[in-house]
Amino acid sequence: HGDFSQKIDYVFKVVLIGDSAVGKSQLLARFSRNEFSLDSKATIGVEFQTRTLNIDNKTIKAQIWDTAGQERYRAVTSAYYRGAVGAMLVYDMTKRQSFDHVTRWLEELRGHADKNIIVMLIGNKLDLGTLRAVPAEDAKEFAERENLFFMETSALEATNVETAFLTVLTEIY
Ligand code: GTP
Ligand code: MG
Repeated sequence: HGDFSQKIDYVFKVVLIGDSAVGKSQLLARFSRNEFSLDSKATIGVEFQTRTLNIDNKTIKAQIWDTAGQERYRAVTSAYYRGAVGAMLVYDMTKRQSFDHVTRWLEELRGHADKNIIVMLIGNKLDLGTLRAVPAEDAKEFAERENLFFMETSALEATNVETAFLTVLTEIY
């Protein structure tokens, strides 16, 4: 009928959190547009991208929210987490501090988000594996203790990005 609009069965809000420069915005660019940029600017405030996909014969619109890792650029926290059913908590595997801060991000998340939220811990920049500062075992143990999913990704090489988002979206569904 000349109408190509798709019927959406579900809209799932997923939030990205983690320190500045860990690669949140580039993971989102990779997942939503299959793009990557090395000279990515720090995010100011809140942005979001959507991608519509099929899971189990249902049309799901993933609405992925991205905010600044830097405190001074962050928008109102409670609004950011409101309605989120999934979260990607990202650290940079070459920066130990970004992993040490994961506990803080988790506290903020647990303080603001729904208690049933699905959380994926992501060690990003796997392509820089030779500079690794966080053993996968440490992150895996932490994730198990805290009931998080865990994956190592590279937004640059597109490693596990699709799998990480799809795991969360399928688990939500
Ligand atoms: P804020 O917006 O400040 O919170 O930072 P962010 O977490 O959104 O980081 P962003 O995605 O802007 O990436 C920061 C830098 O890391 C940029 O130079 C990216 O190109 C780079 N980067 C992101 N992902 C990867 C990756 O998988 N591998 C490599 N080598 N670099 C990456
Ligand atoms: Mg960003």
